[in-house]
Amino acid sequence: MLTLKQYIVHCDQKHSAIGHFNISNLESLKAVFTAASKRQVPFIVGVSEEEIRFIGIKQCVALVRSYREEYNYPIFLNADHVYSFQNAKDVIDAGFDSVIFDGVRLPLGDNIRETKKCVDYARSVNPNIVVEAELGYIGMPSRFLEAIPDDVHTDKKSFTNPDEAAHFVKETGIDCLAPSVGNIHGMLKFGKKPELDIDLIKEIREKVGIPLVLHGGSGISDFIFERAIFAGISVIHINTELRIAFRKTLFESLKNDPNELSSSVYMENALFEIEKIVDEKLKAFDTHKE
Ligand code: G3H
Ligand code: ZN
Repeated sequence: MLTLKQYIVHCDQKHSAIGHFNISNLESLKAVFTAASKRQVPFIVGVSEEEIRFIGIKQCVALVRSYREEYNYPIFLNADHVYSFQNAKDVIDAGFDSVIFDGVRLPLGDNIRETKKCVDYARSVNPNIVVEAELGYIGMPSRFLEAIPDDVHTDKKSFTNPDEAAHFVKETGIDCLAPSVGNIHGMLKFGKKPELDIDLIKEIREKVGIPLVLHGGSGISDFIFERAIFAGISVIHINTELRIAFRKTLFESLKNDPNELSSSVYMENALFEIEKIVDEKLKAFDTHKE
């Protein structure tokens, strides 16, 4: 089995993308695993600070490792957006395969300093760990949004600047960069998300020389995914679509059969919906399909 870093580099070279799916319980992990293993592709399980708190840091590692070991399967665990060095250190020490230090709301100099601190610490513990960082703000939570949040700017001049990105990567030594290229976290209740700037993705990829990660993948069309992948995206994050499907379907199951008490029964449809979405996304991320 390759390391996560090797899989990402491989995707970067052959223009395809690894799927990154957020989970917050064992059941959704199982659903994501079931879908990915049918396609026999490597994938990343993402847990945010909140999801780590909910599941438990050691439990996240143990659960993902149990799948990797039992099935000899390339499943990897990412700490998805950690906002402090201490939290990055905790997940690195716990054995995560990847960490995203999110210092995007810090002034650039502080973001560089804190990111570099995470990179140096990560390398000293595990040379194979993937360290990613963000440049350009794309909003906070994976939610169903009434409107684009006020603090997310969708005008092109607010997106990640390619030269600044190249400087950031050189100074920090990160493995992957998450840029702001028109993407936003979450989905809009009314209307579509803004278009991605494909030319900008291409320019950033050329200038930084490392793989790029697309956050805020929910609600983006397969056609745009394909163009983004060919422009330089190697990992794509999906969360909100899974959350919406899980909640909606679980709610329907509970409503339809108020007497069913077994969660292994009333959760079944919700998990099947997660499987379906993951399958569709993985199909879209495999740009070499027939
Ligand atoms: O890190 C998480 C992702 O970027 C998810 O974005 O909720 O829009 O799918 P999303
Ligand atoms: Zn994200």
